[in-house]
Amino acid sequence: MGRTGLLLLVAAFVVSLSLLPVSSPALHGVVLGPDGPIADAVVRHQGTSIETRSNLHGSFTLPLRAGNRRITASRDGFLIGSSRHGLLRLSFLHLDDDEAYAWVDPTPDAADSSRCGNCHPAIHREWDRGGHARSATGRHFMDLYAGGPKGGRRSWSLLHEHPDGSGVCASCHAPSLAADDPALYDLRKIGGVAAHGVHCDFCHKVAGPAGGEVGFTHGRYGLRLSRPSEGQRFFGPLDDVDRGEDVHSPFMRDSRFCASCHEGVVFGVHVYTTYSEWQLSPAGRAGQSCQSCHMKPTGQMTNIAPGKGGIKRDATTLGNHDFWDGSRAAMLRRSLDLRVETKRGVDIEVTIRLTAKGAGHRVPTGFIDRQLILSVEALDSQGRVVEALAGPRLPPSVGHTLDGTIGRLYARQLRDEDGRTPAPFWRSLPKPIDTRLRPEVPDVLSVRLPDTAARIRIRVRHRRFWEEVRLEKGWELDDQVVIDRTIDLAL
Ligand code: HEC
Ligand code: HEC
Ligand code: HEC
Ligand code: HEC
Ligand code: HEC
Repeated sequence: MGRTGLLLLVAAFVVSLSLLPVSSPALHGVVLGPDGPIADAVVRHQGTSIETRSNLHGSFTLPLRAGNRRITASRDGFLIGSSRHGLLRLSFLHLDDDEAYAWVDPTPDAADSSRCGNCHPAIHREWDRGGHARSATGRHFMDLYAGGPKGGRRSWSLLHEHPDGSGVCASCHAPSLAADDPALYDLRKIGGVAAHGVHCDFCHKVAGPAGGEVGFTHGRYGLRLSRPSEGQRFFGPLDDVDRGEDVHSPFMRDSRFCASCHEGVVFGVHVYTTYSEWQLSPAGRAGQSCQSCHMKPTGQMTNIAPGKGGIKRDATTLGNHDFWDGSRAAMLRRSLDLRVETKRGVDIEVTIRLTAKGAGHRVPTGFIDRQLILSVEALDSQGRVVEALAGPRLPPSVGHTLDGTIGRLYARQLRDEDGRTPAPFWRSLPKPIDTRLRPEVPDVLSVRLPDTAARIRIRVRHRRFWEEVRLEKGWELDDQVVIDRTIDLAL
């Protein structure tokens, strides 16, 4: 195309633009920072998905919208700003961190207006149900840390068996303890806000990752905190909260945020492995974050601070602080697939396939003592137990009611120097035998039964701690039976 042709084309384009009917009125504006225009800021009608980005000159165009919503703008390095008009001014975000900052208590209390639970009651209820709220004081944790009610020399107890290691747990279990607090080395002495474990203010003061290697730099030390010297500052996933103290932080939706606590080599043992398992899993490789499963919106909450300045929001954009999609049992049930095939010959051949599907890591994951136990029971037509002719047997660590019966234990089996198993991680040799399910990889059991067997019952249960530890500590049985299936062999 020649030079004249190009000019003609441009002229025709300009004419056609000016002839366009003014059907969609737009709002033109500009985003300004202390040093001039800000490019690439996300500009939004607050509380909606109607958004655009500012250009090199800081200008933007948004479709006009009925109602009197505010317009917000956010960009990394700045606090979120807003206005009712087109002029948006953003101020610099200083990522200073003041050690003297007083952590805010999450518990609702009318006498203290800063309490998170006062304005975020639904989120507080969700968080309060879960493990994060009890990470520094929970009964099981304390009984293993300091020795349980029965105590005794045989009792698993970090403080008795490995007192030098007493300061190792706080970075993840009580991350807001001050460096000079004596409770750091004896969590029985914990008090104040730190006793709330992994609490609201802690997570929402995380500005990003700190230096250090995931797995070796634990908990708070693997996270960069930013606590203001005065006023408040919250890091969150929303880019349109405009109280002047909020920072949009994409890191909050990144699995790396969880990694600092959910990955850890402790006393040379790879105790916490969830993040590295996730990295290797199909979900991890597809970029499906921890939050997308564990904080999946419930679809119930439409306002995060009702009556306290919160606005109506799309329920499918607000994360769930329960950290379970339903419950542990519900998530396990959805993620376990059990297939059974039977073949009658002289004997009965039963093939059982158990697969973890749609979990973001191995199953079970989390604390190193977690177990999944598959057990098989065969009965004759009168309901009497029938001994299997062949098949894998459960080891003694599952406790005397299941020991030696047909089944499979999916767990990490720790052993100490004297060959005792199970052993607490602070006394264990470095490489436990790991028989847990890998995501999407079926585990296959072959069981042979005499032809008197009329039906089999297959159960899969999740167990949080070893049976002998539970009995010794006097804890109630809290196995969760995830699958309980009876199959008629006569058919
Ligand atoms: C373990 C860290 C952690 C704790 C503890 C925590 N949060 Fe969050 N919070 C997050 C993460 C991560 C998100 C982003 C979730 C998403 O959108 O995927 C979030 C999101 C939010 C949001 C934005 C709306 C939403 O639900 O997505 C608010 C408000 C909030 N948290 C308040 C609180 C309050 C109040 C508490 C205490 C009662 C609390 N948080 C405890 C990590 C935490
Ligand atoms: C006086 C009431 C009040 C208190 C107290 C309060 N908040 Fe909020 N918070 C709000 C309001 C209002 C919003 C914005 C709601 C909206 O835009 O819908 C908000 C938003 C947030 C957000 C979202 C930020 C973003 O950009 O994603 C987080 C995170 C948050 N609050 C955490 C906390 C934490 C942690 C505490 C306790 C330390 C706390 N809030 C205490 C009223 C409060
Ligand atoms: C500051 C450390 C820390 C961070 C950050 C953290 N967690 Fe945790 N998490 C813990 C601890 C400690 C526990 C164990 C609580 C207990 O003692 O039962 C836990 C427990 C859990 C549980 C079991 C919950 C229950 O009710 O038993 C899940 C699921 C979980 N975390 C997921 C996450 C996800 C997802 C993230 C990232 C969005 C995250 N955590 C961020 C420390 C952390
Ligand atoms: C695709 C969905 C999915 C993703 C992604 C995912 N999880 Fe899970 N998570 C599950 C399911 C299902 C379970 C229940 C099975 C189990 O206990 O292993 C579970 C269990 C857990 C538990 C066990 C808690 C307990 O007390 O037994 C922890 C901790 C946990 N996840 C943390 C994480 C972290 C951290 C990430 C990211 C690094 C993550 N999960 C990614 C689905 C997911
Ligand atoms: C790298 C961070 C980290 C360190 C360090 C750490 N923990 Fe944990 N701990 C966790 C996480 C994350 C969970 C939650 C896993 C889950 O829910 O399955 C947890 C869970 C537990 C549980 C299970 C609690 C329950 O009620 O189910 C016990 C017990 C425990 N830890 C003991 C300890 C002890 C004792 C120490 C110190 C020697 C310690 N942990 C150090 C991150 C850590």
